Amino acid sequence: MLFKFPKASDSKESDITPESLYISRRQLLGATAAGVALSGLPRWASADVAGQYAEVEPGRAPAWFADKLPSTRWQAVTVQGEAITPFKDATHYNNFYEFGTDKGDPAANAGALKTEPWSVVVDGEVEKPGRYALEDFMKPYQLEERIYRLRCVEAWSMVIPWIGFPISALLKQVEPTSKAKYIRFETLQDPKSMPGQRSGFALIDWPYVEGLRLDEAMNPLAIMAVGMYGRELPNQNGAPLRLVVPWKYGFKSVKSIVRISLVSEQPKTTWQSIAANEYGFYANVNPTVDHPRWTQARERRLPSGLFSPNVRETQMFNGYSDEVAALYSGMDLRKNY
Ligand code: MTE
Repeated sequence: MLFKFPKASDSKESDITPESLYISRRQLLGATAAGVALSGLPRWASADVAGQYAEVEPGRAPAWFADKLPSTRWQAVTVQGEAITPFKDATHYNNFYEFGTDKGDPAANAGALKTEPWSVVVDGEVEKPGRYALEDFMKPYQLEERIYRLRCVEAWSMVIPWIGFPISALLKQVEPTSKAKYIRFETLQDPKSMPGQRSGFALIDWPYVEGLRLDEAMNPLAIMAVGMYGRELPNQNGAPLRLVVPWKYGFKSVKSIVRISLVSEQPKTTWQSIAANEYGFYANVNPTVDHPRWTQARERRLPSGLFSPNVRETQMFNGYSDEVAALYSGMDLRKNY
């Protein structure tokens, strides 16, 4: 992945996110030591969402999403004392190589992606395989807002208010067989709407594939997202359905998913296939294991510029150790990066 990191000497922590997007400590209930707060009812109800995320461009939500939104559990998980990244940055600084390799390419090119109708195939080691229209696929799930840190392997980070549902709820629906050990996710392959897939120079052997161990997928923090900032996902962020695993580098969070397979063997994932010495299957955020070409000890929190690079220390498991460290007990994280 392309990478640019400001010199450490440039760094001065500063928080330039507008006040309106700041979630204050007072709004959070029941915080744990790791800064993950599981809250009860929201202070602001669904009608206030537009006010809370005042700078958000309105989308054109499909009916199933609009119907579900009012019963969303807002701020079901939050990040304490860290500003939410402005919507503009979260939607104009993206990695979605199907639409180009520059950070602005997905916003510029993803408009042509048709997300309605959309279907999702569930197959492999499950009792209930099938191909579902997205609106049917989504029927069983209660939406929750999950405000998570997102840490890219390229050493930039954001705080994003996702809307989604736990993967554990999906697994309960599809009933993995005893042979299922991993879950594999596949992005849409559609060169007509995805210029990156038409390019003769692409490194990636499409479709983009990611995977998790089954116990990782069962962790309550692992979600399938269908929205962000109180609205449906913009195309460049992986509409209409993407993965979000906040303790792992962002490349695990595969976008625009069309196929979910329960499998017995560890799936071959996209970045691991391109450069296994740089990008591992686990890809847990770990400040003590550097990328071969750069440090992972620090990150640039967006928005970030030359004069306020907004550099901060990277936290083990991206700050979610209390919730996920037990998944890796006894594993050598230098080998299993
Ligand atoms: N999914 C697909 N299909 N294609 C991609 O290129 N990039 C990954 C991940 N999911 C990618 C993808 C990377 S490297 C990151 S950091 C995140 O998406 C970025 O998500 P964001 O653009 O919503 O911030």
